[in-house]
Amino acid sequence: MRKLRVLIMGAAFSADLHIDAYLRLKDRVEIVGIVDRAADRIETLATRYGLTDFKSYSDIDEAIADADCDLVDVCMPNFLHHKVTVAALKKGRDVIVEKPFATTVADGREMVETAQRLGKHIYYAEDWLGCPALRKALELVESGAIGELKFVRARECHSGSHSPFAQTIEYCGGGSMIHLGIHPVGFMLAMKNNRWTELVAMTSGGGESNLVHKGMEGEDWAGALMRFEDGTTAVLEANYVSAGGMEDVIAFYGTQGCLHVDLTFSSPIKAFSIPGFDYTVEKAEITTGWSNPAVDEKFNLGYVSEITHFVDCALKGVDANVGLRGVDGLEALEVVNLIYQSAKEGVAIKNKKLGA
Ligand SMILES: NC(=O)c1ccc[n+]([C@@H]2O[C@H](COP(=O)([O-])OP(=O)(O)OC[C@H]3O[C@@H](n4cnc5c(N)ncnc54)[C@H](O)[C@@H]3O)[C@@H](O)[C@H]2O)c1
Repeated sequence: MRKLRVLIMGAAFSADLHIDAYLRLKDRVEIVGIVDRAADRIETLATRYGLTDFKSYSDIDEAIADADCDLVDVCMPNFLHHKVTVAALKKGRDVIVEKPFATTVADGREMVETAQRLGKHIYYAEDWLGCPALRKALELVESGAIGELKFVRARECHSGSHSPFAQTIEYCGGGSMIHLGIHPVGFMLAMKNNRWTELVAMTSGGGESNLVHKGMEGEDWAGALMRFEDGTTAVLEANYVSAGGMEDVIAFYGTQGCLHVDLTFSSPIKAFSIPGFDYTVEKAEITTGWSNPAVDEKFNLGYVSEITHFVDCALKGVDANVGLRGVDGLEALEVVNLIYQSAKEGVAIKNKKLGA
């Protein structure tokens, strides 16, 4: 069987998540190169995963020009998604793009148009769509287990991004809504095939107006209300003011029941530790006292399933499922930018594409 040759752009947090998934697919995937201007990060990843047979690059353009690959996986800061994606597509590669799709809608449109013009695929890495618990919840909703779905409440929150690139709008594209809220937004859009009709939003505003992170240009709290064509409503939230670990919490309410999904604090292990230990869940500040240490966090947060789907699609030369295509990344980015517009102008916004 032909193996998919992958070039990984970036050697930080998300590259680690993706490499973990590729190594579970060794029969189908070969990592041919890793790019990062910080050579020590490449070395750390290689040591952690026992990678030896790959090429290291420090320069993006050189890597794209030189690497003999089928797929370029963009695990670099948000503001580089556009540059790397367009260059890789022009070199004839398919591309995986991490969230958010880009920092501006104009950049995102150019990425999608370039892929369409060149007949290549962009795969948008919305890991929530790969979460086994959320897939099960969707199956239950689909089966009628809670009657007719009427309302979804979803949030991703933690105490702040570790990345220096998340601190400015130029590098990040916004604050907590584009960086974290893009997950609930992308998930909801995928559920409803992008058929949203109306939204209204509020944010903390950024900088001095923020609740906690006064030095951050983007907002540290944001909430949006959305309505969809079939009448379903949603409350979607993101913030950087939640201590204690990442909260990925999603609730579905129907005419005959409800479902509560807690992706990050629902480990089967309940621990009590006086000295503490190495790790419980993403972004948890301490590990002493009571905690719920995650079991195979990368699998449960959807990375393994999303990468498996992309590898299968790229090997077959087909597009990904709804929610995981370049156009879906662009739609989520457009919606986040309309959330920002609604919050800034204090207005409700209708989806002009549906003529609502
Ligand atoms: N889906 C998820 O849950 C998830 C989780 C974390 C990050 N992400 C996304 O993944 C992307 C990467 O985030 P991250 O936290 O892994 O890392 P990051 O954004 O902090 O940096 C990634 C790496 O890129 C390198 N880099 C930056 N500029 C470079 C350049 N010009 N040339 C070469 N190397 C360069 C840095 O040295 C760094 O190691 C972001 O878009 C982020 O939003 C997604």
